[in-house]
Order: sequence, then structure tokens, then C-alpha cells
Amino acid sequence: MTFKVGLLGLGTVGSGTAKILLDPAGRHPLVKELEIAKIGVRSLDKPRDIDLPATCFTTDLEAIVTDPDIDIIVEVIGGLEPARTLMLKAIENGKHVVTANKAAVALYSDELFTAAEKAGVYVLLEAAVGGGIPVIEPLKQSLCSNKINRITGIINGTTNYILTRMKNEGGDFGDILADAQALGYAEADPTADVDGLDAADKIAILAALAYGGRVDRAQVHSEGIRTVAAADIAYADSLGFVIKLLAVAQRCESQPGETEKLEMRVHPTLVPNDHPLASVNDVNNAIFVEGNPVGKVMFFGPGAGSGPTASAVVADVLNIAALLQVEKGSNQTGTRSLDPLLACSHQHECQVAPISETVTRFYVRLIANDQPGVIGFVGTCFGNHGVSLESIVQTHRKDGSAEIAVVTHDVQEGKFRQAMDELIASKEQINDVAAVIRVL
Ligand SMILES: NC(=O)c1ccc[n+]([C@@H]2O[C@H](COP(=O)([O-])OP(=O)(O)OC[C@H]3O[C@@H](n4cnc5c(N)ncnc54)[C@H](OP(=O)(O)O)[C@@H]3O)[C@@H](O)[C@H]2O)c1
Repeated sequence: MTFKVGLLGLGTVGSGTAKILLDPAGRHPLVKELEIAKIGVRSLDKPRDIDLPATCFTTDLEAIVTDPDIDIIVEVIGGLEPARTLMLKAIENGKHVVTANKAAVALYSDELFTAAEKAGVYVLLEAAVGGGIPVIEPLKQSLCSNKINRITGIINGTTNYILTRMKNEGGDFGDILADAQALGYAEADPTADVDGLDAADKIAILAALAYGGRVDRAQVHSEGIRTVAAADIAYADSLGFVIKLLAVAQRCESQPGETEKLEMRVHPTLVPNDHPLASVNDVNNAIFVEGNPVGKVMFFGPGAGSGPTASAVVADVLNIAALLQVEKGSNQTGTRSLDPLLACSHQHECQVAPISETVTRFYVRLIANDQPGVIGFVGTCFGNHGVSLESIVQTHRKDGSAEIAVVTHDVQEGKFRQAMDELIASKEQINDVAAVIRVL
């Protein structure tokens, strides 16, 4: 029984996918039953290292998603449009969809999953978060008996690579970003990665699966790594921390009868050296899941790349092919009711707490006038707003200025910001706030 696959895109992920499908030996026997029927690309003239006849290729992607012979569409063109329209058209035409497109899924999940449910088809997205790391299906299936309390992820390889090099080499962000671009580890336009937008897309997807509802992507607070200075990495090191860009989705504490809210945020974070995420380096990704009753589970591995991402794509294709094989074998007809552990639940909207209500520790680096009483003044400002301090140390002194590094205890962000406003307003004591970084 052969299943026909329409591949939209033959770039990094598409060519990795094609290579697996064209080389089934030693893999699951079902790979032999998958046939690449058509490949949609932008340019027919580009040299390709895939051994398929020219007749397989087309620039008419709409013809692929409406082709009655094709069972499964793999969308790996990326971007919002035409990816969204093509996926919706494929669904409308009764085709299952496998996608690696976190941006489109994070923004259009409701539209895509509603259409898929109506049509009785699957939209699977293992490759959209964590590249080759299996995390989507484990959240949907293996961990589904748990109440998930928190997901903390390093889910952007580019920023993890830059922060790892900044730590190892003591270099500045700008220089290492330029080098990462030259080496192909960062895009020419690095915005989505370094400003935390890509990680925000991915944590919105993970939270929707873990908490069983839609997450409005616009409500995910995101800060990137452009402002992380070599000085903060060195301070963090001396305090026993490493700086990582973390994406966090966690249940807020709620009283009985209150609507439960989620904290959804992406930001640079001081991670204690003994936390498992602290040793996730270079382009690797890791997702740390805390659930009840399972406890703490970490998924680690290559978060991107042709082979790893294609591994996840083909796993989704195989999942669908296996279901189709069972259906065809049992001569099932009519509208399919979807397997609730494989389909994505999106019926209710998760409430996201405003960032001012979230609770965390903060590290602050201040440039103060080097005068008696300044440390006391800083402590008083924080105390005025109920912010208690774990440590406060004066470090370097230069040209009449002193650097003061502060670490707070857990505090509601709103109160912390009020204290910071009071500090900043006192120009005669504080010259500059050099850094504010949350602490895990
Ligand atoms: N790269 C990774 O490691 C990775 C990891 C996880 C997820 N993803 C996701 O996977 C998706 C694909 O990424 P990629 O890195 O494989 O991208 P890519 O290398 O840029 O490849 C994109 C492919 O899509 C084709 N394409 C793009 N726009 C098109 C259009 N409008 N019409 C027809 N064809 C079009 C291109 O055709 P031509 O070949 O003719 O230019 C190319 O073959 C994205 O959603 C990305 O976020 C990527």
C-alpha cells in the first residue's frame, strides 16, 4: 500500500526529508511505502542533490495541495504566506499536513486545527519545536496523564550558540553575531532569533499542547539577547550562573474558583550552574518539563539542521501513514474521527498573566555615584516596594562611579519595576541601569 507525499519546499528541511524517503533501508518498513509524488519549489533552475526526475518538480504549489492522488502534504517552505493558504487548501482537499513551520502554527493554530478537525485530517508538527528532539508527541502522548506545571526551554539554537561563545571567549554580542552569520549559524536578518521571537513562537506551541488550549502568540512576552553584555556574563559566572535565553510557560498560582493563568515569557536568564539547562551549549536545544506526577524530565538534542529536522518530519509522515494503512485495511469510509492523542486540542483559550504579575528573581547591575550610603540607598528603594534582596555587592570603582550588582528574592515583576523607577529617578545616586536579567 503506497502513500503519496507532496513536498512543499526542497531547502534545508525539504531535502533532508527527501533523502530519508529515498533511502528506506534500515528504517521503519513503512518508509518503503512512502512515495514522493511532487515537489514544489520557487526555482526550477536551482541545482538539487536529490535524485528525482524533473517531472516531479513544479512551481505550482497549489496544484500539489489539490492533487487528488496525494495523501500527505509536507509543508517546509517556511514563512507565513503562502504557507498558511497552502496548508488550509490542502486540509480543505482532505489531505493530512506535516509542517515544520513554527511561525505559521504559532499564529494560525486555531484556524489550521479547526479546519483540520472539520475535514477529519491531521496537522502534525513535531519538527516545529526543537528540530530533531521528540517533544511534541511526548507532550501530547507519553506525558498526557500529567498535570504540567512548567516548561522551561532553550529552544533557539542561534542564540544559544552566541551566548555559549560569549561565555567561552568573553566576547561582545555584536562581534560574535557577525561571526555566527559568516559561519552560517545566524541568518543575515537575525531579528527572529536574537530578539526572542522564534523562541516565543515555539513556547506558544508547547504551552498550547501542555495546557490543552490556544495561546495568543501576541501575549507571549519576549526579550532577546542584544543587551546581554560580556560584563554580565562574567558577573553571572562569579555568582555561579550562566546566562541562557529561556522560554518559560508555567501555571500561575491560583485560588480555588479563580481562572487559572499562565506565565508566558522569553528572556535572557541567569541559570544556576547545577541546573540541567546550564550545560546545554552551542546550537543544542533542551526542553525541561516539570509535571505531576512524573517530576522533572528533560529532552535534549539538535534543535535544527537538515537531518535532525527531517527526522521529526518523517516521523510525523509515518504516524499518518500508519493510521491510513489501518483505515485502508479495514475499509473504513466516511468522515474520520481524529485520534485525540494525535490531534491538537485548541477548544479553549488559555489566559495569560500580564508580565507585571509574574514572579521571579532579578539580577540588576547599576552604575552608581561612588559615595557613602549608596548601597543603603539602593536597599531602601527596593525595600520601599517590598523587594527583598538576596545579595548586594559593590564591585568595580572607576572615575567616581561604582558598579553595584544586586540579586533579589522572588518578587512580583510590577513591584520590582516600581522600585527600579524610584532608583532611576534618583539621578544624584544612580547614573545608569546597566542590566536587568531574570534569575531562574
Ligand atoms: N532549517 C532548519 O534547521 C529548521 C529547523 C526547524 C524548523 N525549520 C522550519 O522549516 C521550514 C523550512 O525551513 P528551511 O530551512 O528548510 O528553509 P529553506 O532552506 O529556505 O527552504 C525553503 C524551500 O521552500 C521553497 N520555497 C520558499 N518559498 C516558496 C514559495 N513561495 N513558492 C515555492 N517554493 C518556495 C524554496 O524553493 P527554492 O529551493 O526554489 O528556493 C526552498 O526549496 C521553516 O518553516 C523553518 O522555520 C527549519
